Amino acid sequence: MSRTRVLTGITTSGTPHLGNYVGAIRPAIAASRAPDAESFYFLADYHALVKVSEPARVQRSTLEIAAAWLACGLDPSKVWFYRQSDIPEIPELTWLLTCVAGKGLLNRAHAYKAAVDRNRAEQLDDDAGITAGLFMYPVLMAADILLFNAHKVPVGRDQVQHIEMARDFGQRFNHLYGEHFTLPEAVIEEQVATLPGLDGRKMSKSYDNTIPLFAPRNELKKLIAGILTDSRAPGEAKDTEGSALFQLYQAFASKEETAAFARDFADGIGWGDAKAKLFERIDAEVAPLREQYEALIAKPADIEAVLRDGAARLRQQYATPLLARLREAVGLRDLSSTPVVEAKTVAKRDTALPAFKQYREKDGKFYFKFVEGERLLLQSAGFDSPRDAGQRIAAIRQGGFDANAADVAVGEGVGVEEVNAALAALSESEVEKQ
Ligand code: TRP
Repeated sequence: MSRTRVLTGITTSGTPHLGNYVGAIRPAIAASRAPDAESFYFLADYHALVKVSEPARVQRSTLEIAAAWLACGLDPSKVWFYRQSDIPEIPELTWLLTCVAGKGLLNRAHAYKAAVDRNRAEQLDDDAGITAGLFMYPVLMAADILLFNAHKVPVGRDQVQHIEMARDFGQRFNHLYGEHFTLPEAVIEEQVATLPGLDGRKMSKSYDNTIPLFAPRNELKKLIAGILTDSRAPGEAKDTEGSALFQLYQAFASKEETAAFARDFADGIGWGDAKAKLFERIDAEVAPLREQYEALIAKPADIEAVLRDGAARLRQQYATPLLARLREAVGLRDLSSTPVVEAKTVAKRDTALPAFKQYREKDGKFYFKFVEGERLLLQSAGFDSPRDAGQRIAAIRQGGFDANAADVAVGEGVGVEEVNAALAALSESEVEKQ
């Protein structure tokens, strides 16, 4: 029986923090132990380059994140654990997908749109400071997913659009070149706690309010002491609702411990004591992992070897054979091999859609015709400029074709209904492409 393939990427642009641990690492490692899943975890270091242009930081983050996942119990002999940039088939597939990806769809990607909106707010050019890397981010991510024909991709809400785009690109590719890709589904982690950070907002690198997962004991204690609380004195009852301290505790404690902590709040525990309890609770879970982490990170060459080994096996088993099939499918072929598909059949499909063709004649005028394959549906008279011809085409496309028009004639043996049906087919195919 083939197992469900579950795939997750982690961008290597920061230091793992408690929010990553509770929201991603811990649940993912628990899920990786399910026997009916084949799990893929990878370090998305190509994605990191979109955000980070400090080489040392990319390297350090890759090391820290790899060590963190291993320290937390990821077993590379049971799951696929690898680094994106060790799989050259990923950028290769990115290009194949780029050639079927609708630019209009990419224009609507949230991250890109947000960057454009910021530029507009500052009255800059729409694309000021925006790299093609940010724009193409969803295509690279689609390649990550489609290359391994992942069924499920557990992600936060902010990533759902990217999975939908991966489905779209995969579907288009399948439509053009045969069924090569499984269409992935996003698994939205509703239950997963988003942990509050030091200031009470969501713990996130962009708010600079994180607690590093493997901060040394003393530093962890200090950071916890700095968590924002209200000004209630010891002896006053405290609200658990909306308390960052309480939510952090809950993320690490059992039901019983959490209930006891809630009673402490009602009984007016002082904030200092509450922080001490929180520190002990977190440290109890993290200390053994920290020890592992420190041992691992002291031997980066071992981590390097684990990652390379994962990538090498994965390429051999999946990536390289799939890319060979895809290259064949799109026509990047051994020239001495017999074409699997007759070139003519392909050409027929390409020209089957009706199309307007513009051209210039020897008389210096600009003409267009509307054709469906070999069949001439409309033939225009000469226009003085390409712009005039283009506007006439636009008018026909919007308003339909009027058989009494003086400047455009229907082809021999062609009826007006046939022209209008072809116009409808053309606009339909364009709606589909959006
Ligand atoms: N974009 C994801 C994030 O920022 C990381 C990522 C890259 C990813 N490739 C992926 C996640 C493929 C899931 C599947 O969180």
